[in-house]
Amino acid sequence: MTTNDSSVEDAFRILIVDDEPNIRSGLAKGLEKLADVRVAGSVNEALDCFDEDSFQLLIADVRLPGDRDGLDLVSLVRQKYPDTTAIVITAHGTVETAVEAMRRGAFDFITKPVDLNLIREQVSRAIEHHRLQSENRLLRNRLADVGEVSGLVGSSPALRSVLDQVRQVAGTDATVLIQGESGTGKELIARAIHDLSDRASGPFVAVNLGALPESLLESELFGHVPGAFTGAVRQKPGCFEQAESGTLFLDEITEIPAKSQVDLLRVLETGQFFRVGGEELLTSDARIVSATNRPVDQLVRNGEFREDLYYRLNIVPIRVPPLRQRRDDIPLLVDHYLNHFCTRHRRPVKTVDAGALERLVGADWPGNVRQLRNMMERLVVTVPGECITADDLPDELTESAGREESTEGRTLAEVAEAAEKKAIREALKANGCHREQTARALGISVRTLHYKMNRYNLQ
Ligand SMILES: Nc1ncnc2c1ncn2[C@@H]1O[C@H](COP(=O)(O)OP(=O)(O)OP(=O)(O)O)[C@@H](O)[C@H]1O
Ligand SMILES: [Mg+2]
Repeated sequence: MTTNDSSVEDAFRILIVDDEPNIRSGLAKGLEKLADVRVAGSVNEALDCFDEDSFQLLIADVRLPGDRDGLDLVSLVRQKYPDTTAIVITAHGTVETAVEAMRRGAFDFITKPVDLNLIREQVSRAIEHHRLQSENRLLRNRLADVGEVSGLVGSSPALRSVLDQVRQVAGTDATVLIQGESGTGKELIARAIHDLSDRASGPFVAVNLGALPESLLESELFGHVPGAFTGAVRQKPGCFEQAESGTLFLDEITEIPAKSQVDLLRVLETGQFFRVGGEELLTSDARIVSATNRPVDQLVRNGEFREDLYYRLNIVPIRVPPLRQRRDDIPLLVDHYLNHFCTRHRRPVKTVDAGALERLVGADWPGNVRQLRNMMERLVVTVPGECITADDLPDELTESAGREESTEGRTLAEVAEAAEKKAIREALKANGCHREQTARALGISVRTLHYKMNRYNLQ
């Protein structure tokens, strides 16, 4: 999948900048099948073109007339138009010029004499690169929105994928079943689905089915009429009525008794229900999002949860991975909650030192984000100094290091990254943090090691 994506092809514009007319026209001719091509003979002419139009790709000769050369042009363009990919043309193909061009943000370089077939290939690659970049940027923007709207903190691939599903499903009325361990953020996610949907201006009604005695459940869900039962003095609307044109969040859905499962299924199928004791048939258009921390499929197999209801509720399943499977989120959450609780408890801002952070990141977190949140609040209140160290952390924080981690629910990329990070950490330790030795031991270059250490936050 490269350049024959028609929408890309339509939109793709290349500006070729060279002072030699025959190179300009040769290139333009050679590339006209791949994109819309314009040409310019100098840096100033090129900048004028950018003023008038947008270009996804700039191909510039390094040697240009005037006091600014092609490298300056690349710097200028990359600064002002970061969406533009750049390729430079060097006369002698000197490595230094190429390196300098890359340093200034060029994606690739071409050497003279120009080989049209090769250039077409390079340009195709640049187009593909550009397409991916824009896609990533779009995705990031959209995800940032979800994060902002929902207050969900984290940037791990696992959480991003959840946020992406949230965004996708928010635009529909499909029922969503959110599954995940206790404290992983299921309720926040349910709210995010509501807040990002067309129903955002309508009500979000949450009902915890595990907290209601069976006798009250029906009246809570469907409401009742006066005299429906002892104590029912006034008419009371149920959750389905309250959530009209909004979202009804059924929390702990697996705790609903067998009899009510039938009633619920009927409402989901027909959209119609009666208040308890009532005769008027009411219609509900509430969107249903439910959640559970129990393995529903197993409960279905055991006959504890109706299979037909499960299918109705589970049109779109969202699984929220436990915190220990997305440790990249931990530093961000720690930061977030430190700031949050220091502000709330009017304390000067505290930090955690590297040792404490390492323990926090390596811990088990059976109570997931809720446990981490509570611990950060406790630390803010109880640690007198400004810096939280590993000694301040309670013993209950159990390391899970060394234990075989489950790969369930993780993408291959996440599993691979976790393994890579672990290998690098161990190699660093084994080589006394000596970078050249570590790189050699791992069979990678020192540059790659630095890059990966940065990426994984290993200092
Ligand atoms: N990604 C996150 N960013 C910020 N806060 C989070 C995140 N995930 C969870 N929380 C916080 O953690 C706490 C628990 O979240 P929530 O109540 O949504 O969990 P839950 O999955 O519904 O748990 P349970 O199954 O026990 O009901 C809440 O205070 C919530 O604000
Ligand atoms: Mg909950």
